[in-house]
Amino acid sequence: MCGIVGAIAHRNVTNILITGLKRLEYRGYDSAGVAVINGEGLQRVRRQGKVAALEEAVHEQNTAGFLGIAHTRWATHGRPSEENAHPHLSGDGLAVVHNGIIENFQELKDELEQDGYHFQSQTDTEVVAHLLHRTLGESGGDLRRALQKAVKQLHGAYALGVVDQREPDRLVAVRSGSPLVVGLGIDENYVASDQLALLPVTNRFIFLDEGDLVELTTDQVRVFDRHGEPVERAVHEFDGAHEDVEKGEYRHFMQKEIFEQPAAIQRTLQDRIDSPDAVSAAFGEAARTIFDRVRSVQIVACGTSYHAGMVARYWLEALAGIPCQVEVASEFRYRQHVVPEGTLFVTISQSGETADTLAALRDTGSDNYVGRLAICNVDGSSLVRESELTFLTKAGPEIGVASTKAFTTQLAGLMMLVLALGRRHGLSDERIEQILSELRQLPNLLEQATALDKPIEALSRAFVEKHHTLFLGRGVQFPVAMEGALKLKEISYIHAEAYPAGELKHGPLALVDKEMPVVAVAPNDELLEKLKSNLQEVRARGGELYLFADKNARVADGEGIHVLHLPAVPESIAPIVYTVPLQLLSYHVAVLRGTDVDQPRNLAKSVTVE
Ligand code: G6P
Repeated sequence: MCGIVGAIAHRNVTNILITGLKRLEYRGYDSAGVAVINGEGLQRVRRQGKVAALEEAVHEQNTAGFLGIAHTRWATHGRPSEENAHPHLSGDGLAVVHNGIIENFQELKDELEQDGYHFQSQTDTEVVAHLLHRTLGESGGDLRRALQKAVKQLHGAYALGVVDQREPDRLVAVRSGSPLVVGLGIDENYVASDQLALLPVTNRFIFLDEGDLVELTTDQVRVFDRHGEPVERAVHEFDGAHEDVEKGEYRHFMQKEIFEQPAAIQRTLQDRIDSPDAVSAAFGEAARTIFDRVRSVQIVACGTSYHAGMVARYWLEALAGIPCQVEVASEFRYRQHVVPEGTLFVTISQSGETADTLAALRDTGSDNYVGRLAICNVDGSSLVRESELTFLTKAGPEIGVASTKAFTTQLAGLMMLVLALGRRHGLSDERIEQILSELRQLPNLLEQATALDKPIEALSRAFVEKHHTLFLGRGVQFPVAMEGALKLKEISYIHAEAYPAGELKHGPLALVDKEMPVVAVAPNDELLEKLKSNLQEVRARGGELYLFADKNARVADGEGIHVLHLPAVPESIAPIVYTVPLQLLSYHVAVLRGTDVDQPRNLAKSVTVE
């Protein structure tokens, strides 16, 4: 979704801005723009479409300045177009970029129109520009104070970056409900909606708190809290390499991220699974006392992260004997729900900024919650900062919109949670040690799963011309099938549905014919024999079967049955390993269909608006 980059320096900042925008492209957007301030005043360039088009225009027009803001827009109010692209202007030289949604924009717009402001776009953001302009007039021209005052009238979510040609030596920004991070340079400073945008110029960041406003000059960063009081915020150092966000030898980020999974899981588990005691410590200092009080678990997440939660429910109830509910955040937050005493509230999120998940967390007022745990990939994100307990998945930056390594590392973290809680609920140390040793096999098993790339590529050809597919799994593999179906629809645009195989005859069997490939995941577990009978039902209707099966599962290629064997995998970690071939299948089908694998149409990496 929308991205913000801003910079103030003693040099031309357009390259910093454009590079930053390019690094945010993965989030999904439909237009881009930049505004810089130089000796001649404010210069704005905007383009519908890709940042590359904006970059070309910026070069053609020799756009340059020591101060500037830039934006990638994902349309909410008003269609994707140049006139709706940010920055939006007011008066002579005030420019605003915005992420989020201003809910009371119509009301403010009516009022501002009555005051004589003319609107050039259909966006909610232009309202902010004019409102700020009007407030500036009333506040005697001080940009920071005017912004502080103006945002009090905004309802909704926003991260705003503002420059004004009358104040060419400062950039102001403010956040509420949408993320914003400050990057600290040497004699220059920056702001962005995501630290990834700024990694080429700095690795030192301040994550702003809700309601924080920041004023940047070349040599100073001053943060003010929601009441306008100056505050100190901690400086964090990014400890990854900024090459993490380069494709390297790979054709797509998604491909790179699939192949990174053995190393990513290694990082997730590193120093955290040496003993049953070490496991709890990975969830934060307060984990020991909070975990002692847990009697039930409520998991809330969206998209792929929701599927991770569904897998965890099977594990929690089977291994730890703890009741667990899982729900998508957009439903959970608007539903009256009963919170059993002793409930641990768990959010799962790659980004830590998903609007619905965050809203659900902020709504956990009930005394029956014993604590809030975020399982998240981004340190410093809103979910992490607002939860008492955190498990950082350490997957490294994930750029492909379709989530891959974030999912498998979440699952590894969730299994650790199950062990930590299970230990307090009668799961024996012996069984815990056994699962820990199985977790240690993961990097190696994931390596073996990615080695199936070539045969899966060959298999993928059978899907290219199809319009519909069915994914089947049983038990803990049902959410894996759901994740497989989600991947395929996200990036290949082929309609894909997942069903628990036992439900086949209650409806989906009516759809099965030779035009509908059926994909099934068949590890060697207690449900294997039942799954095999379900697959017979598919074959009997002429359905073409694609089976990812354990090498000991005694299933072989036959007419209409295509089997790809996986290594023997311990049951505890099978969902993690079986996810990989499904990711590879979607990837290859999408490549063959020629879709935009890393930035599929209409989707965004980080959904920061409702
Ligand atoms: C978007 C992304 C998905 C992701 C979901 C939840 O829909 O495209 O890949 O699973 O958001 O995001 P989160 O960052 O909370 O895991």
